[in-house]
Amino acid sequence: MKLSSCTAIAGTNIALVKYWGKRNASLNLPAAGSLSLTLRELGTRTTVRFGEHLGPADRVRLNGRDATGAVHARVVSFLDIVRQQAGVTARAEVVTENSVPTAAGLASSASAFAALALAASRAAGLSLSSEELSVLARRGSGSAARSIVGGFAEMRPGIRGDGTDAYAVAIPEGDGWPVRLVVAVTAEGEKAIGSTEAMERTARTSPYYRPWIDHVTRDLLDARAAIVEHDIARLGALAERNAMRMHASAMAADPPILFWTPATIAVMETVRGLRAGGLPVHFTIDAGPHVKVLCDAADAPAVEAALAATTGVLRTLIASPGRGARILQETTA
Ligand code: PMV
Repeated sequence: MKLSSCTAIAGTNIALVKYWGKRNASLNLPAAGSLSLTLRELGTRTTVRFGEHLGPADRVRLNGRDATGAVHARVVSFLDIVRQQAGVTARAEVVTENSVPTAAGLASSASAFAALALAASRAAGLSLSSEELSVLARRGSGSAARSIVGGFAEMRPGIRGDGTDAYAVAIPEGDGWPVRLVVAVTAEGEKAIGSTEAMERTARTSPYYRPWIDHVTRDLLDARAAIVEHDIARLGALAERNAMRMHASAMAADPPILFWTPATIAVMETVRGLRAGGLPVHFTIDAGPHVKVLCDAADAPAVEAALAATTGVLRTLIASPGRGARILQETTA
């Protein structure tokens, strides 16, 4: 088995039809499909090197610091999956950097596990297809499966027990469509509850979980049609409604889960105001307090200015469609 070093890069993605619920927790198999846009400006670059000389434990450097505790354990579990798949026993050294460290708390696990899946599989001597990489990335984080693909991506939930048919595919009709996601960062630091725990609690205790899942298939069809037509108002309206339904299902859990802060709601009102003024802009919100606003590229500067002027907004960023995970450098040891 030839071991090498590989550096890969992946952009994070923002779901317009959310993934919120698993059909199998240990394999990270989603209960329904989802649909997202992979971004250029927010992402992760990761280098993985396997070597017998690296000692008894995997070494993980994250943004210039040694990872410890749960973060280290999550990377080691992922590397174990790669090792098993490749028939490798050597330990690894992982060096990973988020390309926009200032935007902490913004869906970093999606780009992190997409970049790690590509870099680690190549470094272990595997040469996986896009579908196989997506399946592998999914084991690290459900949303990471979509960051293997560039632009608009649809996650197929699959039906097989082993998850080999649960991967993301590109929606090429969306390529070249000049859309933007304007991000409003409304808080610093880690979120209060992780998405896995929040999804699990929603599925177990929320009376709105089943209706939520039942609506996703219809939203996916609508979203695909809006992308094919390049209809930003239709895609945005659907994405906003989908996000509200996801949050409604979480709010109805026991104990309830609320990711919003006053700043989140203030941004929602800013977006409604822009819409009342005639701009086709809509928001989406993930498992945290930040807001992402979908709009035409031409409207992005005006949207960003309005978000930046909203009480409680700490930073803004205009993000554009990006490519899928890719290799930057490879060396054979
Ligand atoms: O990939 P995870 O397990 O962090 O879950 C992501 C969940 C959401 O971001 C809220 C929705 C999504 O589809 O990305």
